[in-house]
Amino acid sequence: MTKTILITGAGSGIGKDSAFALAARGHRVLATTQTQAQAEALAQESQNKGIHLEVFKLDITLESDRKLIEPFAIDVLVNNAGMGESGSLAEVDMQRVRKIFEVNLFCTLELTQLALSGMIQREKGTVLLVSSIAGRVPMPFLMPYSMSKFALSAAGAGLRAEMDQLKKNIHIALIEPGAIHTGFNQAMTDSKYKWMGPSSYFAHQAQKMQKQERATFKFLEAKNTDGIVKQIIKACEATRPKLRYTSPWIQGFGVRMARIFGV
Ligand SMILES: NC(=O)c1ccc[n+]([C@@H]2O[C@H](COP(=O)([O-])OP(=O)(O)OC[C@H]3O[C@@H](n4cnc5c(N)ncnc54)[C@H](OP(=O)(O)O)[C@@H]3O)[C@@H](O)[C@H]2O)c1
Repeated sequence: MTKTILITGAGSGIGKDSAFALAARGHRVLATTQTQAQAEALAQESQNKGIHLEVFKLDITLESDRKLIEPFAIDVLVNNAGMGESGSLAEVDMQRVRKIFEVNLFCTLELTQLALSGMIQREKGTVLLVSSIAGRVPMPFLMPYSMSKFALSAAGAGLRAEMDQLKKNIHIALIEPGAIHTGFNQAMTDSKYKWMGPSSYFAHQAQKMQKQERATFKFLEAKNTDGIVKQIIKACEATRPKLRYTSPWIQGFGVRMARIFGV
């Protein structure tokens, strides 16, 4: 059965690839982007590919943009929009941490609440929260991001239990990508070097750290989004989605082991 699926942050990466893959399977896809320029580029790409997407700008931090979803009878909301921020918790400016929580948690939940009001009325719907395996184990120097995804994963699990009690056929699931090459990780790990000056506690090792981070992600990252897009499709099409969808599985397994052994 085809569904109406709204995706946030579909201007690039996992969101864009999921939008095309879901539309190619016959779903009505509302592919939304942070900026108008991204919306225009995506609409053009959709035309070139001959895969129909309904595209519009939806910056999730703007209430007026969030309200744009109200007229649609959304079956599945894919909360994919997200930002990265890195740096040590010993010195990162809390405004940066507040900003990432604003995008990755608060505004994601505000959009979810709006979508849920229609879903609860219609007595059906699924909300996917694109979290991360960084929301399962703390990641040093990525803690602003990691904490935001911990909070999002906790929110998803709690909201799922609440919706189960409501018995209105509403399902909440977490999508947990591991490291995937979209450019996101490079931008995130580099973000701290824009503000870590010579007085940073870690200034003496910054160059070595940056080199190590690049090598680690080069080694770890899945080369494309195929695995996680498959998981998103599964979650979108499931009658009763499970709580977690993870890819690559080996990274999910690694995180489970890390939790068992108390990291
Ligand atoms: N790639 C990975 O290894 C990885 C791992 C775990 C989890 N994830 C999660 O997967 C999701 C997609 O990431 P990706 O790897 O595909 O990176 P990406 O290409 O940077 O995708 C993130 C998208 O979200 C958009 N966005 C940011 N703030 C927004 C806002 N306020 N309103 C609407 N859209 C906004 C970005 O727009 P701009 O380009 O304008 O910033 C971008 O299009 C994110 O939630 C990320 O945390 C990724």
